[in-house]
Amino acid sequence: MTRYLVTGGTGHLGRHVVDQLRARAGHEVRVLSRREGAGTHRGDLRTGEGIADAVAGIDVVVHCAMGRDHATETRTLVEALRAEAGDAHLVFVSIQGIEQIPFFYYRAKLAAERVVESSGIPFTTLRTVQFHSLIASLFDGQRPLPVLFAPAFSVQPIDEADVARLLVDAARRPAAGRLDPVAGPVVQTLRSLAEDHAAVRGWRRPIVPLRLPGRIFRGYRAGHNLVPENAYPGSTYREYLESLVEEGPRRVS
Ligand SMILES: NC(=O)c1ccc[n+]([C@@H]2O[C@H](COP(=O)([O-])OP(=O)(O)OC[C@H]3O[C@@H](n4cnc5c(N)ncnc54)[C@H](OP(=O)(O)O)[C@@H]3O)[C@@H](O)[C@H]2O)c1
Repeated sequence: MTRYLVTGGTGHLGRHVVDQLRARAGHEVRVLSRREGAGTHRGDLRTGEGIADAVAGIDVVVHCAMGRDHATETRTLVEALRAEAGDAHLVFVSIQGIEQIPFFYYRAKLAAERVVESSGIPFTTLRTVQFHSLIASLFDGQRPLPVLFAPAFSVQPIDEADVARLLVDAARRPAAGRLDPVAGPVVQTLRSLAEDHAAVRGWRRPIVPLRLPGRIFRGYRAGHNLVPENAYPGSTYREYLESLVEEGPRRVS
């Protein structure tokens, strides 16, 4: 029996990892959450509370949690693994373009990635790109506006269920270090994604391109967030959104 722990197992990505791991019989799948009853183990990577208990005797950790201080949280996890589960395999999800795009969230991800990769713990890191759920919240957050703003660059979004598939696959294999980065099936401008979004939601409103000065925007414009050479043949953004309309919103506890 393999014992898995999914940190962030209540989030957009992590809940798919949990469901996919649980679909295979004969494993223990622990889910870390700060909230009582939301997972199987309550713990907080920021304070360290409950983490030793959650990792005790674990074989594989799929680390999907990301809070306000990702490097510190990840160090807490690594130290607990060293103390409680010496040989565990740590599977880490990272983001494409974090060296080139100086977004604060990416700086935090880069720092956490370095904690994992210098930890001495057997690890597998998968860099990926913007999830479909993130694109959906970017546009749904503008529901009250009379227009739909679309940043003037391209993305290659991926279904988080597809990322979960890749992480579960990695979790079932020996630690492999840094994997090739992966992105979604198509590179699309955010304008064309906004058009898809408006069409599926039945919105009729002008789409307004958003151009901002600065290095972050230039990094996206230069395509550092894309991986056209490794496009995962999963669902497109439009297919994802249409499936949500048919099935109702995906559950995130
Ligand atoms: N969203 C994207 O487009 C995207 C793209 C590429 C990579 N990623 C990476 O994929 C991972 C998952 O992203 P997501 O969008 O699925 O995240 P999410 O939905 O925002 O979920 C975040 C998770 O982190 C947990 N968490 C936060 N602070 C914590 C703490 N101090 N201690 C323990 N758990 C904590 C939360 O659990 P509770 O609230 O239950 O405690 C929650 O399950 C992240 O590492 C993110 O950087 C995301």
